[in-house]
Parts: sequence; structure tokens; C-alpha cells
Amino acid sequence: MKNRSLPIFLLVLILCGAEAVFAQYQANYDESKVPDYTLPNPLVCEDGSVVTNAAQWEAKRRPEIFALFEKEMYGELPSLLREAGNHPDFVTFRTVETCDDALGGLAIRKQTILTFSSLDGKEKVDVNLLLYVPKDAPQPTPVFLGMNFLGNHTITKDPNVLLHHLRSGEKATSEAELPEGSRRGDRVNRWAVEKILKSGYALAVFHYVDVAKDGAQQCFTSGVFDLYSDYEGNQSRGKNDWGAISAWAWGASRALDYLETEPLVDASRVAIMGHSRLGKTALWTGASDPRFALVISNDSGCGGAALSRREFGESVRIINRNLYYWFAPQFTQYNERVNDLPIDQHELVALIAPRPVYIASAEEDLWADPLGEYLSALHAVPVYELYGDAPFGNRTEEQLPNLHEQVGKTIGYHIRAGKHDVTEFDWEMYIRFADKHLKK
Ligand code: GCU
Repeated sequence: MKNRSLPIFLLVLILCGAEAVFAQYQANYDESKVPDYTLPNPLVCEDGSVVTNAAQWEAKRRPEIFALFEKEMYGELPSLLREAGNHPDFVTFRTVETCDDALGGLAIRKQTILTFSSLDGKEKVDVNLLLYVPKDAPQPTPVFLGMNFLGNHTITKDPNVLLHHLRSGEKATSEAELPEGSRRGDRVNRWAVEKILKSGYALAVFHYVDVAKDGAQQCFTSGVFDLYSDYEGNQSRGKNDWGAISAWAWGASRALDYLETEPLVDASRVAIMGHSRLGKTALWTGASDPRFALVISNDSGCGGAALSRREFGESVRIINRNLYYWFAPQFTQYNERVNDLPIDQHELVALIAPRPVYIASAEEDLWADPLGEYLSALHAVPVYELYGDAPFGNRTEEQLPNLHEQVGKTIGYHIRAGKHDVTEFDWEMYIRFADKHLKK
């Protein structure tokens, strides 16, 4: 009897354990189960003093919050990259293709390779940048700089766009090598190329994987990590070291370095735009690099615009389970105690002030917590108010804006119907908002 019941007892124990683990990683989609929380106050300094004007914010509180995001969440750049600043001499640009009559005469096309070299010059990483500049717009034009998921050749059917790397980071040399879903033009639905150009904006894009591979196994031994950090893998990272989001953001800043050298565009009017993990990256890029004139986060969710403390949809614990390499190792310390995070995502939005920022959500994208994304925008208001009245209109906590309504002045927001995606409608909203801020 004893011998027979023991295995059953053990089996029950294992199943209970598995269930507990499973429950731990189940996302909450019930608003009534969102825990009570208090957000850190972006205007109260670590010594308890209260910021009352923009000068104090910039001199004291902003650097404190920025350092916390670096240390606790996204990770610090290696010191050699910090010290090198913008336009490091180990990043060079080479335009490999130009056409004055692209897209049926709508645009000038330039394809440029940004080469990142190791300090000894022995190793190199190439990032392909595709630039379309509208021919009919007054030059230099403002720019949308976007990061894409599957390669520059996927955003347009233009047969002359160079074939790009695969998601894995391997290079494709022929169309036949490209997997279904990553072929030429397969992502045209996410990039309103003609609309952007006809509205007077240039569009520059690069494939984020060129900068650092997106996988726990390959990330730290390839791309810019391989060039500028001597990691053997995740295990050898220090607790505050940069994660993949920081690396992609650093790459976006190098793309802006290139745009600063391009006379067809106005680099003081560049909007950085990203979707989902690249929406998280866009926010961190805008916070880290004040040269970006506008920041657009599309459905960025946890680790992006969504408040961590709400634990609705994807939570800190859930994101850190498999995607810990996007962040500094330190971020996992908050898996079970998110309320101890000294920052929350409204403060990431606030770091962009006084520059315009736009946050977009999708109604069915509950994994990204649309309400949490909206609340981040709302709770960044006190910082934006240091620079001007009613940055977000008269919005309140209670209610999300109506579907498809664009709200806000310097903080823009909309929620559209549908799923996690970037649509033509989202682009219409971004262009409308950019028209107010980037057009002369
Ligand atoms: C996963 C991840 C999200 C991320 C998304 C994406 O769903 O959990 O945090 O935003 O991938 O980037 O597509």
C-alpha cells in the first residue's frame, strides 16, 4: 500500500508544482485583479526635494531617472561607446546605390551601409539603411526613421531594394533563400511608404537584427555585442550591462548620425518609430538621444509604454522569463516585486519631454495592455507641464479615448480597433501628429 501510494503522491506533487509555475506565468486579463499600486513620482528627487521647473528637472531629476532606467532596466552602454559619443570614428557610411527616379518617380532612393568596426578594426558589422526622399517636397525634408522586423526588402515591392538579412541574422543572397513571409514586399501592409512620401516626409529604415541578433543564444556573441563587449554569453554580463534594446537603440542613433550627413534630409526633424519590441526600442532611443525630434511607440506594451505595476497582459515576470536578454540582468530582480522598481514606464515617456511623443495602442492587443500604455502617457503629463499647458489635453485616468480619436498636444495617443499590428490608419495618425511638430 505504502509503495503504491508513494508514486501517486509524487505525481500529484509534480503536477501541483507545474500548475503553480504555469499560473505564475499566466497573464492577467481581468481589470478587477490589477493590484493596487502607487507610481513613483517623476517630480520628487531621490533626496525628497520637489521639482517645480524645467531647469531643475533637466539638471537634477531627469539624470536621476535616466540613470535608474539604465541601471535597473535597459542596461548601460559599454564605457567605450559612451565615451565615443555621437559620430564615433569606428562607424563609417558608404552609399552603395542611388536612384533619382524610384517608386515610379515619387522618390529618390539611397541605400547606405553603416559599418560598425571593432576598435582594432578586425571585425565589422554592416547595417543596411534604405532611404526614400520625396522628390516633390521642399528639401531638406523631415524624416520617419523606422526599424523593421524582417529586412528592408520586405517594406516595399521595389525590386531594387537590396536583399537583406534574414531574421536569424544570416544574409540572403537570392530571393529564393528568403522564407515565406520575409520575401520582397511581404510587409508592405506595415509601411505606408507612398503616404509618408506624399505627405512630404522621407522614410529611412533599417533591419534591427543587423545591429544585434534577436535571440538569447546568439545576441551576446554577435553583432555589436561581439564588437564592443567581451561576453561569452548572457552569463558573463554584469548586472547593469546593456541588453538588446539598448543595443538596437544605439544602432538607431548611428542611423541618425548618418542622416546628419545627408543633405536631402533635415536631421533636426527626425521621428524615430518602432512597433512592439521596436516600440520599446523607439522609446528608449528617444530617451537616450535628445537629437530625435519625435518619438513614436506603436503597441510597445511591457517594457515599452505599458505601466509595469499594473501587471495586466504581459508582466515583468513574464517578459523576463524568455526575453531577459532584451534588458539588463538587474531587471529580473523585480520579477516578484514589481512595486520595488524605482521607476515605471510613465517616467520613460517623461524622459522624452519636452519633445513630442506619440503612443498608440490597439483594442484587441491586450497582451500589450492598452490602458497601461495610455496611463503612462497620462502620468508623464506633470513633466511635460513644466514646459507648457495641457500637453495631453484634459485627459483623465478613468477612460481611454474613443476608438480612432487622436488626443493630446505634445503627448499624442490613439487606440484603434483590431490586433497587434501597424496599419495604414496608425500611419495616418503619426503623419497628422508629425505635421503639427515637424513641418515648418
Ligand atoms: C512578444 C513579446 C512582446 C513584444 C512582442 C514583439 O509578444 O512578449 O513584449 O512586444 O513579442 O515585439 O513582437
